Amino acid sequence: MNISLSPRLLTCCNFISPGDRVADVGTDHGYLGIWLLQQGIASSVIASDIVPGPLSAAERNVEKYGFTDKMKCYLSDGVQSIPRDFDVLVCAGMGGDTIISILGAAHWLKDSKYRLVLQCQSKAPLLRRYITDRGWRIAEETVVRDGRFLYTVMEVWWDPGHNLTVGQWYFPPALLENPGPETKEYYRRVTDNLRKAIAGQKENAPQEYVDALRELENLPPELDFLKEE
Ligand SMILES: C[S@@+](CC[C@H](N)C(=O)[O-])C[C@H]1O[C@@H](n2cnc3c(N)ncnc32)[C@H](O)[C@@H]1O
Repeated sequence: MNISLSPRLLTCCNFISPGDRVADVGTDHGYLGIWLLQQGIASSVIASDIVPGPLSAAERNVEKYGFTDKMKCYLSDGVQSIPRDFDVLVCAGMGGDTIISILGAAHWLKDSKYRLVLQCQSKAPLLRRYITDRGWRIAEETVVRDGRFLYTVMEVWWDPGHNLTVGQWYFPPALLENPGPETKEYYRRVTDNLRKAIAGQKENAPQEYVDALRELENLPPELDFLKEE
């Protein structure tokens, strides 16, 4: 029986290449890794979770779908207690600050042999700022619609020297590699949210919001299509 994944998790999987050894941190049910093995994409999967309950669910699913030889489960805070022999780290469905604390505790990830696929549920600007200030580059980022939500998934490489501007923390250039209708909607939502936050806080509005909005409202003419309905 084939597992069916949400559009959000399928988009994460689109960043995995054939033969990749994948580490899915914060796996919960383990579905992402099982799907990648069922499709013959990943060659092996490390699945980890900080909470025993979800990890047990992942272990049961690994057994149910017959992948005990290729998918190993670890109880671990971030990557602290997992083996390091993987090619791609996936962190999905977590807050941006949780992903930051996972990356911050593992300096060995700052290495061009690892790729990161990151999908955060909150604080995306903070996460983009953190990773690019520390030497990672957002190589590609995609917007995906899942129910009434718009998420983004980013593929990140160790490649120092690609810091972003304040506006790009909110809407990074990587989103413009393959723009679709969701990209324009994401731009609209980001700028609308900044406008609302600034209006709500008036003179107490953080300068970061004001600077980001100014930058995003004054994009070069070739990006005017983002403002079209
Ligand atoms: C909302 S679920 C997301 C599951 C799956 N990755 C997805 O995107 O559908 C978040 C999972 O991350 C786990 N988690 C939270 N903080 C973690 C950490 N520091 N290290 C490992 N797992 C963590 C939680 O226990 C939970 O199972």
